[in-house]
Amino acid sequence: MTRSSKLIALAFLLPLAPLACDSSGSMKMADGKSLYDRLGGEKAVTAVVDDFVNRAAGDPMVNFTRKGTPAEWPATPENVAHLKKMLTEFICANTGGPQKYEGRSMKSVHRGMQITDAEFNALAADLTASLNKFKVPAKEQAELMSIVGSTRSQIVGA
Ligand code: HEM
Repeated sequence: MTRSSKLIALAFLLPLAPLACDSSGSMKMADGKSLYDRLGGEKAVTAVVDDFVNRAAGDPMVNFTRKGTPAEWPATPENVAHLKKMLTEFICANTGGPQKYEGRSMKSVHRGMQITDAEFNALAADLTASLNKFKVPAKEQAELMSIVGSTRSQIVGA
């Protein structure tokens, strides 16, 4: 290959450079920033989760407390605080943060809750509203939504 044809080949490859997969399979920018870092780390994730859980818990389209199902969940302050902690850990661990998720599997924790696709969609809309409130950019929102969306088959009808 001549020097100029090498340069042309490089110019075609450059647009692919900004994204790369690390060994855990999570998406990183070429500058090494994980989604976790781009979201603003644990403090920012905690703030979004806090707003999101409050929003979803008050959303009749989600029926977060699972009223009328065999798995009714009392939204006591202790239960809500625990759920927020676990969800924060889950999101941090799945976006490239150093945390380890030590909660139950998505399938076992939501078993018997009879969650429908429509309820899952309503929950996703609540998450979008919280991400908008915290001005999370569209690209990071899309990446997080794809991670959250990947849990659907374990949660809906679990
Ligand atoms: C409509 C959809 C959903 C509803 C109604 C729902 C409801 C709940 C409820 C009531 C609990 C508390 C259960 C307990 O402590 O016994 C819970 C726990 C949890 N949920 Fe969901 N959930 C939904 C979707 C999701 C999604 C999409 C995720 C992840 C992205 C998620 C992650 C978690 C986590 C991490 C816990 C805590 C697990 C633990 O304590 O070990 N949930 N969920």
